[in-house]
Amino acid sequence: MLRVENLTKYFGEVHAVDNVSFTLEEGGVTSVVGPNGAGKTTLINLISGAIKPDAGRIYYKGRDITGYPPSKISRIGIARSFQIPHIFLRMTVLDNILIPLFSRKGLSRNLIKRATDYPEVLKSAEDILGSFGLWEKRNFLANELPHGDRKLLDIAMALAMEPELVLLDEPTSGVSIREKSRIMEIVEEAIRERGVTALIVEHDMDIVFSYSEKIIVMHQGKILAMGSGEEIKRNKEVESILMGGEV
Ligand SMILES: Nc1ncnc2c1ncn2[C@@H]1O[C@H](COP(=O)(O)OP(=O)(O)OP(=O)(O)O)[C@@H](O)[C@H]1O
Ligand SMILES: [Mg+2]
Repeated sequence: MLRVENLTKYFGEVHAVDNVSFTLEEGGVTSVVGPNGAGKTTLINLISGAIKPDAGRIYYKGRDITGYPPSKISRIGIARSFQIPHIFLRMTVLDNILIPLFSRKGLSRNLIKRATDYPEVLKSAEDILGSFGLWEKRNFLANELPHGDRKLLDIAMALAMEPELVLLDEPTSGVSIREKSRIMEIVEEAIRERGVTALIVEHDMDIVFSYSEKIIVMHQGKILAMGSGEEIKRNKEVESILMGGEV
């Protein structure tokens, strides 16, 4: 589904993503882990078109999408969520979800105002907000939501684009341990139910081991290791890095 070849992005002297190559098969969850500053968000920014690489190529379903702008990337079926939720705080939860829904159906010019004229759009909003436990809160302003629900709304907005591939940047950052499991259960079910392939950046290794088929470990812009949970657990070098050590 996705092939990344020798992807490279420098910020001055910082090698944020340095000659990274990997492939993602269709289906399932792949996690990207690594210490702060490893290049995980930069990798998502590159794949989603938010920034352009200095070198390397990105192929999606065989098509070279390197350098495509985010609008085009989202149209061909790749959506993303953000480490810090990118939601519209002064709009209601329902209006937030209507934005990607209208956009997906090519009705962006009718945004919000005529939502009631499109029962199928409202039905989709109910479906997606329902699976994220947010339908009852649809008339709240987004800024009235607790942090965990803001994270969920951000991810729901990505899935409302009906992507085939979704890139989630730390879906559980900044929430309590109990809330982390709740969020991941909801997210995993939403992804699997829709048959979406997911690349998830996550710090919590318990979550990573329980939800991913494959794990990519990044360190200082490079891929340090890649494999199944069992393979990663056995890797001493990875253990030392994730515990804050040095190679
Ligand atoms: N726009 C930018 N300008 C300059 N440096 C940047 C920029 N974006 C990222 N960096 C640097 O690139 C490196 C990788 O950053 P990135 O945000 O990708 O790390 P990360 O793995 O997502 O870390 P975290 O776990 O803290 O979210 C860091 O050293 C960061 O300071
Ligand atoms: Mg990050």
